[in-house]
Amino acid sequence: METTTIEETKRQYAYMDEARQLVAGEAARLGRPLTYHVTTFGCQMNARDSEKLSGILEMIGYLPGEEEEADLVLMNTCTVRENANQRVYGRLGKLSSLKKRRPHMVIGICGCMMQEEDEVERIRTSYRFVDLVFGTHNIFRLAQLLTEHFQNRGMVVDVWEGTNEIVEDLPAVRKYPFKSGVNIMFGCNNFCSYCIVPYVRGRERSREPEDIIREVRKLAADGVVEVMLLGQNVNSYGKTLKQPVSFAKLLQEVQQVEGIQRIRFMTSHPKDLSKELIKVMAESDKICRHLHLPLQSGSTAILQAMNRRYSKEDYLRLVKCIREAIPDISLTTDIIVGFPGETDEDFEETLDVVRQVRFDSAFTFLYSKRSKTPAASLASQVPQKTAHQRFDRLLKEVQAIASEEAKRYEGCTMDVLAEEVNRQQQGMLTGRLSNNFTVHFPADPSMIGKILPVRLDQCCGFYYLGTPAE
Ligand code: SAH
Ligand code: SF4
Ligand code: F3S
Repeated sequence: METTTIEETKRQYAYMDEARQLVAGEAARLGRPLTYHVTTFGCQMNARDSEKLSGILEMIGYLPGEEEEADLVLMNTCTVRENANQRVYGRLGKLSSLKKRRPHMVIGICGCMMQEEDEVERIRTSYRFVDLVFGTHNIFRLAQLLTEHFQNRGMVVDVWEGTNEIVEDLPAVRKYPFKSGVNIMFGCNNFCSYCIVPYVRGRERSREPEDIIREVRKLAADGVVEVMLLGQNVNSYGKTLKQPVSFAKLLQEVQQVEGIQRIRFMTSHPKDLSKELIKVMAESDKICRHLHLPLQSGSTAILQAMNRRYSKEDYLRLVKCIREAIPDISLTTDIIVGFPGETDEDFEETLDVVRQVRFDSAFTFLYSKRSKTPAASLASQVPQKTAHQRFDRLLKEVQAIASEEAKRYEGCTMDVLAEEVNRQQQGMLTGRLSNNFTVHFPADPSMIGKILPVRLDQCCGFYYLGTPAE
């Protein structure tokens, strides 16, 4: 079962103290403060991990800086598809030349790619200039690893195969002061046959609800109005706890926290989405009107080969049920094209679901063969040309539907959380509706972090132009 180790947190704070002195020494030698830069690939989990890594780095005295000039550069990697890996190696090449000019620079790689033995081996042999290598299970150890590197100056490699530990209460730096991701669970037990995540993120582990609520309270006290609850399959949250709790119950508790005005979550697996959750969402005025519900394929045969454990009809039934209870919900999805054995007929089934459901947006991916996964050894891999043709057709369909659907709110006035200054147009802010659509509207930057009513004057494909109401 899960363990939450207060001792480990204490140990890591001691390492942060030690590292802080070493960093201060280096800063004195250089006559300026040291800077860091974290580059993040992949999903929201990685984004949140990077905030924790940045939190530790700032705690020990590093200031944020640009990659080209930073004294410490960390790459938090993703390996869900092959092209994610290629981007990391491309970037490593650039870092190598930077380090030739500035040899004191510390370069670290962490995240999902480093949970693969072959990749770590490749770094060890061909990228000797890398200083720190660690995985997904021990990011909380950054100060310890850095201390080791400063003391011994070699490449420090620390990758764990798995863990039962959930280390709480370490520092984190938030990208936005008014919204934050909150991990509610780690890992994944679903083993969809194409997916590498269960191998690199380990077994599913849920945090105790009290720990989650404590973190949300702390965030609210710190000015956060929106939380995004994070897990690979949030619908199975709490099932492995000593005292099992459902995700719907957790949501009910989170919405009691004073100051929290919006709650989002990612990702929902259709097989575990409960009636209880739909009811809690329908009755809530804080849970956002958005559900990301990955379809992956519309063909029941392919879904079975993917080990998704629902059929085309199950998915359509679920969507109907959700829409009946929450008519203003926005549905988005993920779809994979070219899974081994996918025939033209299977692909037509996917298009059929897309046309029936009419998603507000969909992330479409070309199937990518990942080592260790069962799908990698399937004989009937789809020819690249066929997969690309299907991908293009799907993308066109998805985009056409999404831009038609977006028009349904044109002319309405809806609440918007002002998130950032619009870099393209002076005097404009960019914000987000509860249903996750973005809106550009004229307002003062002092409104950032606030929720205000905005009239959606014009729909421009996948975003709106609006004006503040009143
Ligand atoms: N836990 C989430 C998804 C995490 S990965 C879920 O179950 O929905 C994000 C998306 O990447 C997946 O939804 C899937 O569409 C895509 N993906 C995962 N493995 C892939 C692979 N081998 N090839 C192509 N796309 C993949
Ligand atoms: Fe991968 Fe499936 Fe787990 Fe999502 S649910 S992370 S697609 S194995
Ligand atoms: Fe990528 Fe790891 Fe997320 S493989 S998608 S960063 S869990």
